[in-house]
Amino acid sequence: MKNQPSKKILVTSALPYANGPIHLGHLVEYIQTDIWVRFQKLLGNEVYYFCADDTHGTPIMLSAQKQNKTPEELIQEVHKEHYRDLSLFEVEFDNYYTTNSPENQELSETIYLRAKEKGYIYKKNITQLYCPHDKMFLPDRYVKGTCPKCGAKNQYGDSCEVCGASYRPNDLIEPQCAICGTKPIEKEQEHIFFKLSAFEDFLREWLKVHVDEGVRNKMYEWLDQGLKDWDISRDGPYFGFKIPGEENKYFYVWLDAPIGYIASSLNYFKKVGKANLFDEFWKEENENKTYVYHFIGKDITYFHTLFWPAILKASNFRTPTSVFVHGFLTINGEKMSKSRGTFVKASSYLKHLDPLALRYYYASRISNTLDDIDLTINDFILKYNTSVVGNFANIFSRSAKLLEKLNNQLSETITEEGKILLQNIQQKKGDIIKYYEERNFQRVVRIIEEIGSEINRYITEKEPWVMIKQDEEKTRQVITDIFNAGWILSIYLYPIIPSFSKGIWEFLNIPVNYECNFNAIANNIEKQTLLPPKHKIHPYRHLAVRIQKEQVDNMFKEEKSPELEKQEVNYISIEDLNKIELKIGKIIEAKEVEGSDKLLQLKVDLGEEKPRNVFAGIKKFYKPEDIVGMKVVVVANLKPRQMKFGTSEAMLLAASDKETLSLIVPQKDVSVGSRLS
Ligand code: 2FM
Ligand code: ZN
Repeated sequence: MKNQPSKKILVTSALPYANGPIHLGHLVEYIQTDIWVRFQKLLGNEVYYFCADDTHGTPIMLSAQKQNKTPEELIQEVHKEHYRDLSLFEVEFDNYYTTNSPENQELSETIYLRAKEKGYIYKKNITQLYCPHDKMFLPDRYVKGTCPKCGAKNQYGDSCEVCGASYRPNDLIEPQCAICGTKPIEKEQEHIFFKLSAFEDFLREWLKVHVDEGVRNKMYEWLDQGLKDWDISRDGPYFGFKIPGEENKYFYVWLDAPIGYIASSLNYFKKVGKANLFDEFWKEENENKTYVYHFIGKDITYFHTLFWPAILKASNFRTPTSVFVHGFLTINGEKMSKSRGTFVKASSYLKHLDPLALRYYYASRISNTLDDIDLTINDFILKYNTSVVGNFANIFSRSAKLLEKLNNQLSETITEEGKILLQNIQQKKGDIIKYYEERNFQRVVRIIEEIGSEINRYITEKEPWVMIKQDEEKTRQVITDIFNAGWILSIYLYPIIPSFSKGIWEFLNIPVNYECNFNAIANNIEKQTLLPPKHKIHPYRHLAVRIQKEQVDNMFKEEKSPELEKQEVNYISIEDLNKIELKIGKIIEAKEVEGSDKLLQLKVDLGEEKPRNVFAGIKKFYKPEDIVGMKVVVVANLKPRQMKFGTSEAMLLAASDKETLSLIVPQKDVSVGSRLS
């Protein structure tokens, strides 16, 4: 394969909010992006990976207040934690900045003023809920109340978690301020709008070229509903940038957040003396000369593929080359949940498990579709133990022990069979590059696992542990074959589990002038960079350790919150409900039970051949003569229970509080045997 000229590529991951820790869900994206960036660097491209904390908005302002901190203090602390956690997962940014920066403020103002100059900004009055106690307008999520559609209580101001309806906070029944509980009032206020609707034609064309088909179809659905102009201002108090020329108005966080990508790059390019690259990446006329890619989750697609390109277009910046969208993380097939302990923080994971295991597992699951990615715990353990420990590390551990007996020195040449092995591995390079490039890491992993198995098979066939007893030099040669093959494998693996590959390079004592990248892997054996003749390698150190189930259990235990568990509603499905057969029955006989101060013995007619015998704990609340003839609600399919005084063949429904107990009776007269629905 001919080497392509080096490309200039700028890559970003979505900016995490500065009011919560990094968790396993976030890590899907950072690991995905990091793998792709490392791959591009291995290809020899000039790649820059930028990110930052997303620091503005009401939740961060309120979170700081709650903790008795200034927002600046809070975001500084969180920045350190985010950066630490991401670095420990070997996510390697060129710059990890903050949106609360002078660069971002200046760029946000420039972008706004350019759009304004071109007539894309206007003002309009809107009515919003306002808390007279907190003296602030309430964002949708800060209003709670009863869903106007299904009547579910305690729902947010934007959508109902029970029936899924979307609405405006003003539509909620009995709305309350989520901060203080006060009833909010409606208040009119002037807001600043960006004329998104003017970009419909542009966006339709843009989407044809810059996103995958799945994303394009979704966004066309939005466009077909008609684009609404975008409200980009918020009134104070608000933690963010003031809008130039306005009193007490701030840019909405979603305006300055993506500009944070540009600001992070500007900060970096200035810092390293490459200011020219800023224009190369961001000037409109350079759109086809350099490459800009955003990795994001599917929940923020419309911000990145509608609002963002329109804002950039309006202000004469280049638009992204592409936006790569991934699905959500599920754990054992379910949404992450704090009460179940599956909402795992990166820092908790790190206390119990090796970050490489997660990187490897995610890579084995990530493809380039919008499908969700499931972290199936048993698979996760199995994958790491079989592939990384049992397959890859095994190649080196089995062979290293033998070479130790031979002075840790490689031979001068490789064998003829070794050449065939290396050639087979080289030939996979084209596919590996193709799948990495397409972000289909699932396929990359599969190919690398096959290579690992092929090398292991070679070892098993050659039996160097037997050979060493007869022919030491031949054994040395076979191990030289194996380590050369393992070296190529480690380069293929590097984007996915970088420190594992670096451990191999350290152990193989790779000379300083050797570049561990795709260029080192030739297509033909004559040109292949091999380990130097008679090369001395270092003594072996363990490259990877098996995961025990206990480690994973302990991690979840640590995250499990007993309080939340109590609060969690245990929903049942309609199928579950249908399992219970509730019927109207008539009490045709009632008497006291000798020896029991709680029970009455009843005969209940359910319209069946024979009345049912029922023991009911209602003696304290009902006299037998008062209930004969009464119609009641009965659980008809409860398994008969053998009791001290006989068999109970059904159960009556009753409600009780501290004082009394009340049988549940039909409000109108319905016939015996009617089913409840
Ligand atoms: O959804 C989020 O977590 C946002 N903080 C992502 C922002 S990405 C970019 F636009 F800044
Ligand atoms: Zn309030």
